[in-house]
Amino acid sequence: MIEFNKARRSFLIGSGSSLLLTLLPIPAFAEVPKAICSKAGQKVLLKGKNYICVKKSGKLQWQLLTPAKPTITLHPTPSTSPASSHSTTPSPEATHSPPPAPSVTSTPQIVSGFIAAKLSDLTEGKSKIVVAKDLKGKSVSLALFLSAGVVTVHSVVCTHQGCFVGEADKTLACPCHGSVFDGRTGAVINGPARSPLQGYKVAEAGGDIYIQSDI
Ligand code: FES
Repeated sequence: MIEFNKARRSFLIGSGSSLLLTLLPIPAFAEVPKAICSKAGQKVLLKGKNYICVKKSGKLQWQLLTPAKPTITLHPTPSTSPASSHSTTPSPEATHSPPPAPSVTSTPQIVSGFIAAKLSDLTEGKSKIVVAKDLKGKSVSLALFLSAGVVTVHSVVCTHQGCFVGEADKTLACPCHGSVFDGRTGAVINGPARSPLQGYKVAEAGGDIYIQSDI
């Protein structure tokens, strides 16, 4: 009889525990969703906690799941770019170097002829007679004139009878019979000469005046 009571007490204790666990799948102090647990797998969120509807012992009931994790919003790390810092390092935009300037290669100017004089030897608006060496080394006299940066060169041989003219300010004057020629153009201003002085082709390079005609 005593053994029977022990067994009965053990049975009652075990049955009571099972019944308690069945009836209280959620701690008694826990708040239960008010929603109807009508389908297994149904989920609800209550005060940050997830509950799932499960079927236990043929009965649908809410069961606490892992508490819902708070939503984490990722904020971009503040940029430490040079533009926002106080660094003295200039930004890439500020360090752009200007495109390299095209290199200017001075091509030596090839000028034929012989040098009669330097451009610096002439005075604007005035005739000047010089003696130069031609390509054969022969000394030749030439009448030069500078006007607005343009140099003109003429023979000093008077077209009247071949005397040598002399410089006279803007003109070239012949001492033999008084003919006068324009220093810039070689044109006759006064006779007896009737033809202008012979002109020569001229070029300037590097400050030198080249005679490019055969004298
Ligand atoms: S030779 Fe020059 S004017 Fe006669």
